[in-house]
Amino acid sequence: GKVGVLYGGRSAERDVSLMSGTGVHKALRSQGIDAHLFDTGERSLAELADEGFARVFIALHGRYGEDGTIQGALELLGIPYTGSGVLASSLAMDKVATKRVWISQGIPTPDFVLLDADSDFLPVAGTLGLPLIMKPPHEGSTLGVVKVIAAEDVRAGFAQAAQFEDVVLAESFITGRELTVAILGTGRSAHALPVIEIVAPEGNYDYQNKYFTDDTQYICPAELPADLTERIQAVCVQAYRALGCEGWGRADVMLDADNQPYLLEINTSPGMTGHSLVPMAARAAGMSYEAVCVEILRGARC
Ligand code: DAL
Ligand code: MG
Repeated sequence: GKVGVLYGGRSAERDVSLMSGTGVHKALRSQGIDAHLFDTGERSLAELADEGFARVFIALHGRYGEDGTIQGALELLGIPYTGSGVLASSLAMDKVATKRVWISQGIPTPDFVLLDADSDFLPVAGTLGLPLIMKPPHEGSTLGVVKVIAAEDVRAGFAQAAQFEDVVLAESFITGRELTVAILGTGRSAHALPVIEIVAPEGNYDYQNKYFTDDTQYICPAELPADLTERIQAVCVQAYRALGCEGWGRADVMLDADNQPYLLEINTSPGMTGHSLVPMAARAAGMSYEAVCVEILRGARC
């Protein structure tokens, strides 16, 4: 039947989603699948219901796309969709809820505090150490993420992150290597793809370096001893299952100098742009971009 590729949407990551959706659409069509692009930022749910899609591939990122809301709408419409369900999507979109679940299961994640405009900023650097990271808890693609180097910059860092959300997540910065692990499958069949190490200019893997420059180096598979690779992959799959993620996702990880992995978040609708990491990891596992798209679509359910 007809397959919808939901893309665009209304989040701050709209432009990224336009790139992801375009890639997925082209890939599915090249495999003989009757795929059609549908921009949820420009068209209504009523129109979505009228399209007669047998299944949809969610290539949306961020709010209203990755956070359980569109998933809930698709449940109500009875249209099978790719990726995680309502609860896992909304848990994973919320970096604080995610950390609470992980802490309850002993999955390592950096220490954190929540800050709002009325918070006492003085103890933050002492509690978390320096540098520290400030981020809006519900954004993606590094939007609003600030690295605070000096204690006197905590307030300014807060102000920057608070442009996106009133409550800001302040997190200890894990000095070490930046890794990401793509995961395919659900429950017992969930499995990790090869680990990617990201080496960004000055360690700054920001929006620009994610999508537009070619200065970021990606090492895939990451050069790590086999037992460490396995340990990282295992904790990522554990973290994915802990949130109840389904279909596919990507865990972002920091590895400290003692080779201890810390989980930062799971993206339940990761980027599928030409620069993106899930396709890169898949390629290292011998799977083409097209094959990953087909595999993810095959897992669509509701
Ligand atoms: N939030 C972006 C799309 C990613 O995680 O790939
Ligand atoms: Mg993210």
